[in-house]
Amino acid sequence: MKLLLKLILFVVGIFLVVNSLTLNQAARDHAFTVSPSAGVPPPTEALFKQKCTKCHGADGSGDTSMGRIFNAPDFTDGNWWAKHNSGEFVNAITRGRKNMPAFGKKLTKAQISSLASYVQHFKH
Ligand code: HEC
Repeated sequence: MKLLLKLILFVVGIFLVVNSLTLNQAARDHAFTVSPSAGVPPPTEALFKQKCTKCHGADGSGDTSMGRIFNAPDFTDGNWWAKHNSGEFVNAITRGRKNMPAFGKKLTKAQISSLASYVQHFKH
């Protein structure tokens, strides 16, 4: 009788181990399928579209109705870059500047610094 009990415990033990292994496997497969795949824009680009394009335009030119009202700069204009220091961008995005709203409470520092680099790709 004792032997049978041990046998049952042994079988149950094996069952639990195998079960947890397959569950882990399933979790990993799931994580893999939901990870960003081709066709999904990189997070910074998506963030720029979501928070910034209404004034700055998807092309960075500031040529949108909001951009014209707020007088957003043209990031594609070399003359603008000649007069502005990209080292100031993190500060400008965090605290705001003139008509530019502050994003320090809405975005993380990492998001702000990646956006500050992101706008530099509009420069021609
Ligand atoms: C409500 C309109 C508006 C929105 C939304 C907006 N901006 Fe601006 N942004 C402006 C305006 C206007 C300026 C020019 C400010 C000035 O006159 O110095 C500006 C300037 C800037 C500058 C240049 C700052 C400098 O040092 O001269 C950067 C960089 C910038 N914006 C990035 C962003 C990013 C990134 C976002 C999204 C998180 C964003 N902006 C959202 C209106 C906006």
